Amino acid sequence: MKKIILGGMFLLLAGSLTQAQDTPVYLDETKTIEERVEDALSRMTLEEKVAITHAQSKFSSPGVDRLGISELWMTDGPHGIRPEVLWDEWDQAGWTNDSCVAFPALTCLAATWNPEMAQLYGKSIGEEARYREKDVLLGPGVNIYRTPLNGRNFEYMGEDPYLASRMVVPYVQGVQKNGVAVCVKHYALNNQESNRHTTNVIVDDRALYEIYLPAFKAAVQEGKAWSIMGSYNLYQNQHGCHNQRLLNDILKGEWGFDGVVVSDWGGVHDTGEAISNGLDLEFGTWTNGLSNGTSNAYDNYYLAQPYLKLIKEGKVGTKELDDKVRRILRLMFRTCMNRNKPFGSLCSEAHYEAARRIGEEGIVLLQNNNGLLPIDLNKVKRIAVIGENALKMMTVGGGSSSLKVQREVSPLEGIRKRIGNKAEVIYARGYVGDPSGEYNGVVSGQDLKDNRTPEELTAEAVEVAKAADCVIFIGGLNKSRGQDCEDADRKSLNLSYGQDELIFALAKANPNLVVVNISGNAIAMPWVKEVPAILQAWFLGSEAGNALASVLMGDVNPSGKLPFTFPVSLEDVGAHKLGEYPGILRTDGSKILDEKYNESIYVGYRWTDKEKIKPLFAFGHGLSYTTFEYGKISVDKTTMKANETLTLTVPVTNTGKREGSEVVQLYIRDVKSTLPRPVKELKGFQKVKLAPGETRNISFTIDKEALSYFDDARHEWVAEPGKFEAIVAASATDIRSKVSFALE
Ligand code: BGC
Repeated sequence: MKKIILGGMFLLLAGSLTQAQDTPVYLDETKTIEERVEDALSRMTLEEKVAITHAQSKFSSPGVDRLGISELWMTDGPHGIRPEVLWDEWDQAGWTNDSCVAFPALTCLAATWNPEMAQLYGKSIGEEARYREKDVLLGPGVNIYRTPLNGRNFEYMGEDPYLASRMVVPYVQGVQKNGVAVCVKHYALNNQESNRHTTNVIVDDRALYEIYLPAFKAAVQEGKAWSIMGSYNLYQNQHGCHNQRLLNDILKGEWGFDGVVVSDWGGVHDTGEAISNGLDLEFGTWTNGLSNGTSNAYDNYYLAQPYLKLIKEGKVGTKELDDKVRRILRLMFRTCMNRNKPFGSLCSEAHYEAARRIGEEGIVLLQNNNGLLPIDLNKVKRIAVIGENALKMMTVGGGSSSLKVQREVSPLEGIRKRIGNKAEVIYARGYVGDPSGEYNGVVSGQDLKDNRTPEELTAEAVEVAKAADCVIFIGGLNKSRGQDCEDADRKSLNLSYGQDELIFALAKANPNLVVVNISGNAIAMPWVKEVPAILQAWFLGSEAGNALASVLMGDVNPSGKLPFTFPVSLEDVGAHKLGEYPGILRTDGSKILDEKYNESIYVGYRWTDKEKIKPLFAFGHGLSYTTFEYGKISVDKTTMKANETLTLTVPVTNTGKREGSEVVQLYIRDVKSTLPRPVKELKGFQKVKLAPGETRNISFTIDKEALSYFDDARHEWVAEPGKFEAIVAASATDIRSKVSFALE
C-alpha cells in the first residue's frame, strides 16, 4: 500500500516535472512576469512585434495567435463599462448582455473626499470590466479642473492635485485587483475640449509639476497603474500621445513607469514621433475618437506598415520596438494572460449598493437656510417637483463615457418611491432642454418631447409651485453637446434653456424652494439669494434618484464637499482672467492654437485666495444636517527638521442633534518663500463620522513633502526652512484654527 502511494506520488511529481519542462517560460505562471516577457519577446517575429503595437478593431489590439498570446480588449471608462460596438464601427453591436451599472461620475466620487469610496468604486467597476472580459478600463480621468467651461470636467476629480491624488490611488488599486488594468487619462494638460486636437499648451514647470502632474504621478507610483492614455492636445509643439518630455522624460524617466502608453483614439499623428517619443500602443487612428473614421485602416496606422517599412529599410532600429513590445507583453501578463485573476461580476446588487453609497456621500448641500432640508413629511404634504432633469436619463450621452445601463432610477422616480403615500408629489416640466436621448445607437427610450412654449411651461410650473408646501426644482446641465459633454466646451457659466428665469419665478411663487443642480461643473447662480436650499447632485448614475431622495428626505446626512470652486462669474477664474482660453490661433495656417496658462499655479482656490475673491461656493464647502465645532489645532513640536514628521491634532465635535460626517481639511501656508506660493494648499483631509455630542481628535502627520514647492530652476522639490502655518478648515474659506511651526 505504502509503496503504491509513494509510487503514485512519484508519478505525479514526474508528471508535473515533464509538464513544467514542456511549458514554455512565457506561459509558465510560476515564472516572474519579466522572465515571461523576455521569453515571449525572443520568440516573436518582427511582423508579430509590430502587429501588437496597434489596434485591430475599435477597442482591441492583437495578441500573437501562433504563441497563444491573447488579444487585449479595452473599454470605456470611467463610470461604467461601455456597451459593445461593432468590430470597426462606433455603432452598437446589438448585444443584449452588455448592460452595466452606471456609477456616479468621478466629480461625485471626488466630492465624497473619502478614499474608501474610491476603493469601492474601483473594485466594483473593475469587477464589471472583468466579467465583461475586458483587460483595460479606459479611466479614471484626473485632468485638473482649470475652467468651468470644460465639457469633460465631470469625468475628472476636481481642481486640487492633492485631493485628486488621494482619490485616484485607491480607484486604481481597486480596479487592478481584478486583473484589469486602468488606463489613467488624459496625460497631460487636457484641460478643455475646445480644439482638443489642436491646442498647444504653454505652461511653466511650476504649474506643470505642482498642479497638472501630481495625480498622474500618484496613480503611477503609488497606484502602480498598468497603463496611461496620452492626451489629444499638444505641449511643446508635440501631441500628448508622442511627447518626448511628458512620456519619455517625465513618465518613463523620472517616474519609472513600466506600463503601456496607449494613445487616445485618433491622437497619433506621426510615425517618427510615435516610434521615438514614448507611445507604445496606437488606437483609433483615422477616426475622431467619437463617431466617424476610415474603415479597416489598421494596416495604415502610424505604428503599422509605415513602421515596419522603416525598419525593413533600415531607417530605424528595433530598440524602441522591443521596448514597446516588452511593455505590451507585461500588460498582457498582468491582465489577459493572467490565469489567477478573479471572475468578476456584472450588475450585482453589491454594485448598485456601491453606486448608491458613493452617490449619497458625494451629494453636496451647498445652502440650507431656514432648515428647509431635510424635507419633513410631518409638515409637508404636497411636494412640487419641477424640471427636465427630474426625468432625464443622464447615463446616455456625454461622449465616450456614455453607457447602456441595466437600470437607472430618475430623481422623480426616486423621490416618488421614497415618499410613497406620505405626501402628494406633483410634477411639472418647467422648461424643455434637450429632449433627445441617444448616443452611438443606445437610446434612452424616453419620450421627452414637449411642444409647449416657455411661457406655457413656466405658467404651469408656477401654478404647481404655488399649490405646494415645498418645491424641488431639478435642473442643471445635461450630457448634450455644449453642456457636460466630450468634444466641445460650454459656452457660458449660466444655465441654459431659460432655467435661471424659471428659478426666479419659482422662488417668487413659493419661498420653500430647493434647487437641485445636476452637473459635473460649476454654474452661475444669479438667484442664489432667492433660493433657501441648494444641492449639488452631479451625474449620479444608476442609483441617481434613490441617492438624491435619501439626502432630500434626510435618511442620509449629506457629507460631500466641493472638489472645485464655484466662481460667481468667469471673471473670477484665473484661466479666464489671465489665461488665453480657449487659445490663440497661429497665423501660419497650421490650425494650431497656442494657449498660455498665464495664471500658472493659481488654479481654483489658489487663484481666489490670491486675488481675495469671494467665491460663490468655495472649494471644500459642503453643509450637513448637523453642525460641527472645531477646537484649537495643536502641534507636537514647534520646530521640525527636514527628515522628521510633524503631527497636528484638532478636536472636532458634532454639536447638532444627528449623526453626521465632516471632512476636516488641513491646509499649509508657507509664510515666507523665495518663490511666490499660493496663500495655502490642501495637504491633508479626513472624513470623520460623529454621533451627536461626540468629540474626536483628528490627527494629521505631515513631512517635508507637504511643505515643498517645485523649484523650476533647480528642477526639484524644495522645502525651504522658515515659518509655516497649519490651517484646519471646513472649506477653503471656512478656516477654523491655525498654528505656526518652523522648518529648520
Ligand atoms: C476619448 C477617450 C476615450 C476614447 C475611446 C476618446 O474620444 O477622449 O477618453 O477613452 O475616445 O472611446
